[in-house]
Amino acid sequence: MVDRQHRAAWDDWGTVDPFWAVLTHPDARHGRWDHDAFFATGVDMVATMLEHTGCWGRPGHRRTALDFGCGLGRITRALAPHFERTIGLDVASTMIDEARRLDAGPDASDAEFVVHDADDLRAFETGSIDFVSCLLVLQHLPTRAGIETYLREFVRVLAPSGVAAVQLPVHVPQAAPRTTLRQKLRLRTRAGRFFRALRVSPRLLYKWFGWQPEMRMQGIPYEETVAVIESAGGSVLDVSDESTDPGGVVSRVYFVVPPA
Ligand SMILES: C[S@@+](CC[C@H](N)C(=O)[O-])C[C@H]1O[C@@H](n2cnc3c(N)ncnc32)[C@H](O)[C@@H]1O
Repeated sequence: MVDRQHRAAWDDWGTVDPFWAVLTHPDARHGRWDHDAFFATGVDMVATMLEHTGCWGRPGHRRTALDFGCGLGRITRALAPHFERTIGLDVASTMIDEARRLDAGPDASDAEFVVHDADDLRAFETGSIDFVSCLLVLQHLPTRAGIETYLREFVRVLAPSGVAAVQLPVHVPQAAPRTTLRQKLRLRTRAGRFFRALRVSPRLLYKWFGWQPEMRMQGIPYEETVAVIESAGGSVLDVSDESTDPGGVVSRVYFVVPPA
């Protein structure tokens, strides 16, 4: 079963500021992401990933793509024209509702958006997916064991000529130590939690009281990530250079293939 607190936090993000929760651009809080610019980042990313994996002739088939942790469908929608079937999975039903709402009208893609209600990919057969995309997701899982499970699951579900593009931090900076009494007491966080438990609207708490749903962040060093993938029989075909976001999180994208 999915961790309830984790799901509740992402459901709240899907309600209060879904675009910013997906891409935390400093100027785009409180719904200020331009929607076209936001989705254009997905089109660019998918073009780059497919061009890159195409150098190895992967994916060998373009039947099914899976976008794990799809959020608003930024990557899912961009994948859809390249595959017969594209599925976006997300733990937050609010994100899935928004993804469906945004992907409507004459330009709608044929992507499927599905609420993910498990802690693995048991709904998908071994060897059934040609392309897995998982960007900006694993870092937010509540446990390292959860991250490792999904790394192994990606290897399992990949078709023999498939490939997965998996982004994961190698380093997450430690939070600055709390020095003032106010920081130590974390009054805003505690008050927010209290009022949320009383079912006060998350939108109200976010907009007027500066409360934020939890957004955990963790990474796994490069060698250890590769070891997990290899323990599942997969291998890392290639890995991107390190990229550092404005918060100091250093990430890499692993291009993963199943056993030969
Ligand atoms: C920062 S957003 C990234 C969205 C998308 N991958 C993109 O790059 O546009 C992280 C997403 O992962 C989802 N997520 C977190 N934990 C998840 C889980 N265990 N299973 C599926 N989705 C999850 C969140 O709900 C959120 O929509």
